[in-house]
Amino acid sequence: MKKIGVYDSGMGGLSLLARLIRDMPSYDYIYYGDAANAPYGEKSREEIQSFARKAVKELITLGCESLVIACNTATSAAEDILREEFDLPIFGMEPAISRAMASRDKGTLLVLATSFTLNSPRFIKSAKNFENQRKIIPMPGPTLVRLVEDSIVEGEEIRQELEKMSQGIDLHTVDGIVLGCTHFLFLEKEIQRFFGPHVKIYDSHGDTLALIDNGLGRGQGGGSYRLISSAGKDREEKSQWMLENYLRELR
Ligand code: DGL
Repeated sequence: MKKIGVYDSGMGGLSLLARLIRDMPSYDYIYYGDAANAPYGEKSREEIQSFARKAVKELITLGCESLVIACNTATSAAEDILREEFDLPIFGMEPAISRAMASRDKGTLLVLATSFTLNSPRFIKSAKNFENQRKIIPMPGPTLVRLVEDSIVEGEEIRQELEKMSQGIDLHTVDGIVLGCTHFLFLEKEIQRFFGPHVKIYDSHGDTLALIDNGLGRGQGGGSYRLISSAGKDREEKSQWMLENYLRELR
């Protein structure tokens, strides 16, 4: 099992691809970013499912033998139907909130994700399970997704948007933040700077990677990646730049 398809609405999943390249280097990855239809976060389940079907068909045509849905939104919307409709191993994003709940912290937890993810039964159920443990505030960030799609990952625009998103929240009580959208991993440094060094940031990239590693085992040979965007060449070049920068920071 060598070729792995990695799929996201746009740039976000590159943050998971970077970890796959670093930690599971002996595979050939084909990354499909559906930038022509991004952002997914405000779209309907049916629309996201139909984008996901198209992406998976394309990845299968290109020879992928397994699929990673490197997008929390597409995982919530389409993981089940993709499993029913396609005969290949499929890995979705693990729910990012679980990691935060394993900690014993009691302060307010902000969950940054798309509106679709935050309204999904999966998220509502996990948030309910933990509501006695600490206060959870869902925080959708569609503008942040757009900024990352434009390769803006630091600076004033990000800070201003975080400011806007935090209005009405007593930030003194916040001691944890969940990054429940793969795009937001690119903003981790700015998010930490904005909320302060005492705030713990959680994501599920490590857990998701562990599942993929367990499911597929170590690859043999290979060791390549190719980036495809439904929005064309220019996007593919931007994705390459984002991935290289991110890989440099990660290594
Ligand atoms: N990267 C996506 C996620 O993890 C979604 C961003 C979007 O397209 O709205 O949820």
